Amino acid sequence: MNFLEKRIKKDGKVLTDHVLKVDSFLNHQLDPGLMLQIGEEFANRFANEGITKIVTIESSGIAPAVMTGLQMKLPVVFARKKKSVTLADELLTASVYSFTKKESNEIAISKKYLQENDRVLIIDDFLANGQAALGLTDIVKQSGAEVAAIGIVIEKSFQEGANKLRELGFKVESLARIASLTNGEVTYISENMEELV
Ligand code: G4P
Repeated sequence: MNFLEKRIKKDGKVLTDHVLKVDSFLNHQLDPGLMLQIGEEFANRFANEGITKIVTIESSGIAPAVMTGLQMKLPVVFARKKKSVTLADELLTASVYSFTKKESNEIAISKKYLQENDRVLIIDDFLANGQAALGLTDIVKQSGAEVAAIGIVIEKSFQEGANKLRELGFKVESLARIASLTNGEVTYISENMEELV
């Protein structure tokens, strides 16, 4: 088990067959030390990708993205879900449907923060159906920049997002890959199990 899998085992709660509660360290209360470790791990995994910018989505993607940006010495841009009064610039937008919340949100990034020559690393806390990540890849594409890779803190591999993104040709690296949440237990995809899944 890696450091994140151990932490999920210690503090995560399986709520249903589809939902893992990690709000004591990842998406409500934050553990800065763990976020730093996550940033270091992503920085190692993506060190040779020629990344120039990190893109995430508010709110829970911001902490792991900032720690990765700190390690890689790169700026971090987060897509907004609500229009800000100060967001008067030209915007790149995408519509993101949440199966969990059964609603669509428009997400937006100012055009001025993505350049054609950027190689972007997308970071997010959860990958479930992949709608948020796909919305971000759409925005990056609109800017003319390139998605170099996608880094996910917790991938729920039994939902369709991970396969969808990999089938589209994106390099996806997830720090914890969950095969199932059945019977109140978290089962991970380990390296040597990969071909069995
Ligand atoms: P998708 O983007 O992969 O399609 O995911 P989905 O619509 O299913 O997820 C909607 C929200 O629910 C996202 O947060 C996502 O991070 C979160 N989520 C998905 N699966 C889980 C889970 O098993 N446990 C927890 N705790 N969260 C999950 P969001 O609404 O954008 O919230 P936030 O980033 O503002 O915190």
